[in-house]
Amino acid sequence: MEGETTCYLPIQNGFLTPLIPRSSAAGSFIDLKNLFKETRPDAVIHAAAQSDPNLCQKNRDTSYRINTEAAINIARFCSDLGIPCLFISSDLVFDGLNPPYSEEDEPSPLNVYGEHKLMAEIGMKNQCASIVICRMPLMFGSSGPTGSSFLQPLLRQMRLGMEVNLFVDEFRTPLSGENAVEGLMLALERLPDVIHLGGLERISRYEFGKLVMDVFNFRNAKLNPCRQQEIQMAAPSPRDVSLTNAKAMKMGFQPDPVKLSLERIKAVGNEKV
Ligand SMILES: NC(=O)c1ccc[n+]([C@@H]2O[C@H](COP(=O)([O-])OP(=O)(O)OC[C@H]3O[C@@H](n4cnc5c(N)ncnc54)[C@H](OP(=O)(O)O)[C@@H]3O)[C@@H](O)[C@H]2O)c1
Repeated sequence: MEGETTCYLPIQNGFLTPLIPRSSAAGSFIDLKNLFKETRPDAVIHAAAQSDPNLCQKNRDTSYRINTEAAINIARFCSDLGIPCLFISSDLVFDGLNPPYSEEDEPSPLNVYGEHKLMAEIGMKNQCASIVICRMPLMFGSSGPTGSSFLQPLLRQMRLGMEVNLFVDEFRTPLSGENAVEGLMLALERLPDVIHLGGLERISRYEFGKLVMDVFNFRNAKLNPCRQQEIQMAAPSPRDVSLTNAKAMKMGFQPDPVKLSLERIKAVGNEKV
């Protein structure tokens, strides 16, 4: 998935339109209003975000404007047009103390990013009756012309034989971008209030790194198993925000194992090996 293809996706006549440039996106209320008038979408997937938790922690106001305020405005415009609005939220609305998290669990974010995503969820629900909140896990995918995921820096470090510190005590349910898009389109068809699109496996960052090393055959990669408390970061990071996917699977969601997804990414051939 990654930002470049999912920033704003107005859906017209069943088709996703191309990325709408930043100049007419979350920047201003008037720009957004005009954008809705011009494109007359049938539905909107709102994926744009300041998605780096550390930046959000250091720039609370900017994070609020992009991650909460803009999202609420978008929900309001969708409501005015009477169209569904699918909001891409995050597993980071949870504190990581009682995993795995289902749609029934009470969010309780640990950092500013999670807090602002949760405020967006609540504010959007108040604005728009047909809001669909999709909480996404950690996502990874192929690099595109402008976008990438946390996989690309990892591949680069491994390729260069650099030391890579990866947590053995931070767990997520990672999902490929491809599977994420499938889940999002399914959610747009079924319109649940809230849905968790967790991947198949609960794995640590370190285990993910081992799979990458294996699939991309980086024999000289230097993976250092480390613990969250050894590395200081601006934003507190929850220990285990694994998401359940039972509700999504009942709707037909079929995520692939992480290893298979990585093999597919390798086969696409966009990544330097
Ligand atoms: N990646 C994950 O593991 C993950 C996990 C859970 C949830 N999510 C959520 O999934 C969504 C997509 O994530 P991602 O990893 O693809 O994020 P990303 O790579 O950071 O992309 C975010 C996109 O938002 C755009 N954007 C940011 N500020 C904007 C503004 N003021 N106006 C217009 N566009 C703006 C960016 O545009 P530029 O390219 O111009 O900067 C970029 O295209 C986000 O809502 C994120 O919170 C991601």
